[in-house]
Amino acid sequence: MVNVMGFWDQQYSAAGYKYGEQPNAFLASQAHRLPAHARVLVPADGEGRNGVWLAQQGHQVTALDQSSVGLAKARALAEQRGVPLDTECVDLTTWEPPAGTADAVVLTFVHLPPAMRAVVHAKCVSALKPGGLLLLEAFAPEQLGLSSGGPKQLDMLFTLEMLRSDFVPALHEVLGETASAVLDEGPAHQGPAALTRFIGQRV
Ligand SMILES: C[S@@+](CC[C@H](N)C(=O)[O-])C[C@H]1O[C@@H](n2cnc3c(N)ncnc32)[C@H](O)[C@@H]1O
Repeated sequence: MVNVMGFWDQQYSAAGYKYGEQPNAFLASQAHRLPAHARVLVPADGEGRNGVWLAQQGHQVTALDQSSVGLAKARALAEQRGVPLDTECVDLTTWEPPAGTADAVVLTFVHLPPAMRAVVHAKCVSALKPGGLLLLEAFAPEQLGLSSGGPKQLDMLFTLEMLRSDFVPALHEVLGETASAVLDEGPAHQGPAALTRFIGQRV
């Protein structure tokens, strides 16, 4: 039988951590909003940099991804840092999250085609408890002219309007912004970047 390795499994098979071993900077700057010992879901956590850091902050974290190779590296990072991390290897498009159980959902650079994006974002909302927070950072359309990472298809890049259409009014908008920043997040995210950020609270 031929074992055809998926794109992300191949990416994560290289030595090192593609997006680094430190958390996404926006997440780190906003995590003070989470309650203590929060139940946090991190869909598409890749090699686990965000999930492991959240676990180090005392949260109860489940990292999800379609890549078993990425999640194995996430578990290795968690073990190295002496923190518990639950992992689930799932395709988010068919994922069925437990409804209304998460204090927070964290999405960084989870760029899906438009039809899938809306479905997955709706699942993320449904996973939140009332009052629960969704924190998201992703590349904006202006990222197409830059070389610090991200998809090269315009419709996979996020505008604030897209995010508001996905999340509001189910979520109350706490923060919505576009920003320019210089990324320093592993070998794959280096240099000037155009970003879209959203934080919402489930009503
Ligand atoms: C650009 S990486 C970002 C990884 C991580 N969020 C971070 O910021 O370090 C995108 C991730 O999305 C995951 N992904 C893409 N489509 C997915 C799907 N349908 N189901 C689950 N994971 C998916 C990939 O496996 C990959 O780990």
